[in-house]
Amino acid sequence: MSHFQTLVVPIIASILIGHWIKLYFDRENRMSPRPDPSSFSDSSQIRTTTLNIVLTADLKSAVLSGHVDIAFKRVNKECQSLVLDCKDLDISRILDQASGEELEYVVGDKFKEFGSPLTISLQPSTNGVTVHYKTSPTASGVQVLSPDQTFGEHPYLFTQNQAIHARSIVPCQDTPGIKTPYTAELTVDKPLVAVMSAVSVRSEESESTTTYFFNQKIPIPAYLLAIVIGDIVSQDISPRVRVWSERANIDKCYSEFEDTETILKAAEEVAGEYVWGRYDLLVLPPSFPYGGMENPCLTFVTPTLLAGDKSLVNVVAHEIAHSWTGNLVTNANWEHFWLNEGFTVFLERKILAKLAGPEEGEAVREGAHMMGLNSLKYAIEVFGKDNPLTALNVNLDGVDPDDAFSSVPYEKGSTFLFYLETLVGGPAVFDPFLRSYIAEHAYKSITSEVFVSYFKSHFPNVEVDWRGWLTTPGMPLVIPKYDDSRQQKSIEVAKAWSNGDISEKERESLSSKQVISTLTLLHTYDDVTLETVKQLDSTFHFGDSQNAEILFAWCRVCIKARYSPIVSKALNFVTTQGRMKFVRPIFRDLFSWKEYSQHAIDVFERKKSFYHNICRSMVEKDILAHQANA
Ligand code: BES
Ligand code: ZN
Repeated sequence: MSHFQTLVVPIIASILIGHWIKLYFDRENRMSPRPDPSSFSDSSQIRTTTLNIVLTADLKSAVLSGHVDIAFKRVNKECQSLVLDCKDLDISRILDQASGEELEYVVGDKFKEFGSPLTISLQPSTNGVTVHYKTSPTASGVQVLSPDQTFGEHPYLFTQNQAIHARSIVPCQDTPGIKTPYTAELTVDKPLVAVMSAVSVRSEESESTTTYFFNQKIPIPAYLLAIVIGDIVSQDISPRVRVWSERANIDKCYSEFEDTETILKAAEEVAGEYVWGRYDLLVLPPSFPYGGMENPCLTFVTPTLLAGDKSLVNVVAHEIAHSWTGNLVTNANWEHFWLNEGFTVFLERKILAKLAGPEEGEAVREGAHMMGLNSLKYAIEVFGKDNPLTALNVNLDGVDPDDAFSSVPYEKGSTFLFYLETLVGGPAVFDPFLRSYIAEHAYKSITSEVFVSYFKSHFPNVEVDWRGWLTTPGMPLVIPKYDDSRQQKSIEVAKAWSNGDISEKERESLSSKQVISTLTLLHTYDDVTLETVKQLDSTFHFGDSQNAEILFAWCRVCIKARYSPIVSKALNFVTTQGRMKFVRPIFRDLFSWKEYSQHAIDVFERKKSFYHNICRSMVEKDILAHQANA
């Protein structure tokens, strides 16, 4: 047999077969994208094109009532029904928008946190429907606060739609794969004010009510719809930025966030033009369950950022960064959540670097990445390192996205991007790529595969273990070597403290950010004695700090060392603000401290009504998990 037959033929054949297999799978991926497992809607059949929401708010009964006009386009010309997501909505009638004729509809059985499919029968001529409905007082996306839960004398309402709570406020195709512009009219009792994730157009007054009109021209996914109604006031920071809060703390909010325009400008240098018109910032009451929420034109933030020294404004940089990654380039469904959060953390730290200037910037950025690894380790510890939810791409069939939430998409995602940046030759090469990625995919919803092929087309010779990074659970494949020069001081002090070497002078030279890092590092050490903690407490009184991050890290250090005097302070901290990032770890820490476990559960039960329902149900699940393990 000749060499041609024994070697060359099989080699050529296998190259051809390999090529054919690759083509086949590429084609499969393009032709049948996986449908959104968190929505009943089917974007391959029919797609909403605009929403017009008209609601009247009754804060006494905690109900929004009115109608929504939904226009759509059939993808499949034969499509005879429109399937929307809805959750606990009371629907009274549905009309053909053009003819005014009533349309038949069926609300399917409620399926857990996903709500129900609402199937509307369409006439061939129907291209828009009007759904008349009202929300439930227990709508999962709404929290109504009684006057005693606010600073003032009026009730307060806010929504939190991400990930799948929009459907409890408006019937819609509640998938980030579909984006639509929206207009809205909200009628509220005087003297309440309404704001939304849109531009305010005008208002009209009647004797006892005010109607506010809004317009969001840029197509957005339903999870970015947002409403706040309360006795709120605002103060201008720049021509396009203002801060909103309850009357009583507006001055404090203004001084904490007065640099927002500067941060926004830095973000534009990193990511491109800011296209949303306004960037307003609204400071919510303490039960707001997140640090921030990137509602377009109107970021929501927790009042726990009010440290008095601007030390926690990285959250604002983060929400600003979402104006590009998340709000322009959107994850197609929650299985690709890291495309929203990993990219946003990565941009957030680029923005912080810009603000720190060319000398310090890179060290600031890498220091932030390094500290982020601590929360990643904690998240993976809580889930377990083999838990599939610790991969970047997850499977959410039957899984509530709120249950899948953790630091993993944030920190593993941004670690991956940092790794890719190093691989291609550093920021000088990666920055322009990132900008072109944003420009190319803005106004679209994409999956991880789209990012992967875009990367491959730019860097055809760069080898990446995509599977290893995207679908393997646990810590990142590679932990980059970060510049830790900015952390040196905190590392030194944490080491000294852990050895019981405590000097008052040292503390004075630490910024609040350095105190946070020092305490965060101290919490990772296993040899901090009760005696040391006692001494730290009497020297520095961290337990009285007004900085929520300091208080949080300090509580965790104390609980780990079983320092009893912290218990009442820790419980007070987690029952007077409802930010899950603080509430869940501290309750979990206390649940596993035998002497206080039951006490912590009792306090939670007593204070339960304070929390937003997302936070409440997550802590309830944490209690069940604790009891199952005990
Ligand atoms: N979009 C998220 C908050 C969110 C995520 C709400 C998933 C509901 C479901 C927001 O941008 C965020 O990430 N906030 C962080 C800020 C931090 C990473 C700087 C937070 O809340 O702590
Ligand atoms: Zn985010």
